[in-house]
Amino acid sequence: MSGKTVVLAFSGGLDTSVCVKWLVERGYRVVCFMADVGQGEPSSAAVRRGKIAGASKILVRDLRREFVTDYCWPALKAQAVYEGGYLLATALSRPLIAKHLVEVAHQVGAKAVAHGCTGKGNDQVRFEVTARILDPSLEIIAPVREWEFRSREEEIDYALAHKIPIDVTKRSSYSIDENLWGTSIESGVLENPWTEPPAETYRSIRSPRRAKAAPGAVTVGFTRGAPTHLNGKRLEPVALVERLNALGGAHGVGRSDMIESRVVGIKSREVYEAPGGTILLRAHEELERLVLDRELLQFKQGIAIRYAQMVYAGLWFTPLKRALDAFVEQTQRRVSGEVRVKLYKGTCQVVGRKSPYGLYQERLATYSAKDQFDQRAAEGFIKLYGLPYEGGVH
Ligand code: ARG
Repeated sequence: MSGKTVVLAFSGGLDTSVCVKWLVERGYRVVCFMADVGQGEPSSAAVRRGKIAGASKILVRDLRREFVTDYCWPALKAQAVYEGGYLLATALSRPLIAKHLVEVAHQVGAKAVAHGCTGKGNDQVRFEVTARILDPSLEIIAPVREWEFRSREEEIDYALAHKIPIDVTKRSSYSIDENLWGTSIESGVLENPWTEPPAETYRSIRSPRRAKAAPGAVTVGFTRGAPTHLNGKRLEPVALVERLNALGGAHGVGRSDMIESRVVGIKSREVYEAPGGTILLRAHEELERLVLDRELLQFKQGIAIRYAQMVYAGLWFTPLKRALDAFVEQTQRRVSGEVRVKLYKGTCQVVGRKSPYGLYQERLATYSAKDQFDQRAAEGFIKLYGLPYEGGVH
């Protein structure tokens, strides 16, 4: 035993459990780090599995609040959605987990960190880029990229041979990553992009057919761009997201099924669930339409795309991303108010909005006798507005 210590980002699943054993066999003292980002209680079974696989220590940190306020809220304020359909749940959690992984490495005096990501995905990029930004001196080990197993079956055989308790019968044929902001589901039959996602891929959301028969409604209150109230009642960030996940899920809201462009160049087929996030994104977007002037609103829509690309690509702790955050934060000063949302059989519709900073003025917009808009002023305005283009189709 060389006595080298490595801190492994550990989920308790098959891959990371096998990673523990694999690292131990290569002479490492393995400290497992488990991050609670709302994927459900880090189960005692997972901890047991880690211990049996040979971990010398298993550290669990509850990162739920930090995840929501420092990662989900900035993404929400930026209106970050990747390629039009992915709310970035997995992508947002990775820099946070990597940050704590590095912290734990420092705490236990480890010179190396490890993760259980494959060489084809985005998560390896996110973990490693973040770890290198925060401490370039740390060695990074990615057992799954290196090891000899050529299939799940071989991996399972190895686990069984080493008495790591893997429940093969319960094991899902999908690769699932879950947190408070959403669930990512991939692999298995989903690898055929023509195949409709089977019923068992519905995790936190009911299919529209099984969704509640009666429409649901919720009023979301925002303070400077951050959600603070539901139905007029102040709620802590984690509780607020949990509440909306349950509500949206019951109404079948927040699924997407899409082909997406990965950082490593391939296209992949993904199914996503983000019930609470979807409601919040819609409501926040509508509040911005009400309070932001045209120039700012439209410029910010371009920023949203760029912001999402950066989050997706693992560039959370970079100078441009930080600068974009400063811009977005500045835009949120008046994004306070309430939005009323209706949920029904998979749809999520805004049906009302109000804000003390609203730019909508009924006396200018109305077609009734209360109209105060100077319609005659429009004539001169249009003449000058169109002047540069007069007389020519080039
Ligand atoms: N394609 C998504 C992303 O890159 C989901 C990744 C899911 N990760 C997983 N370990 N199943 O963000």
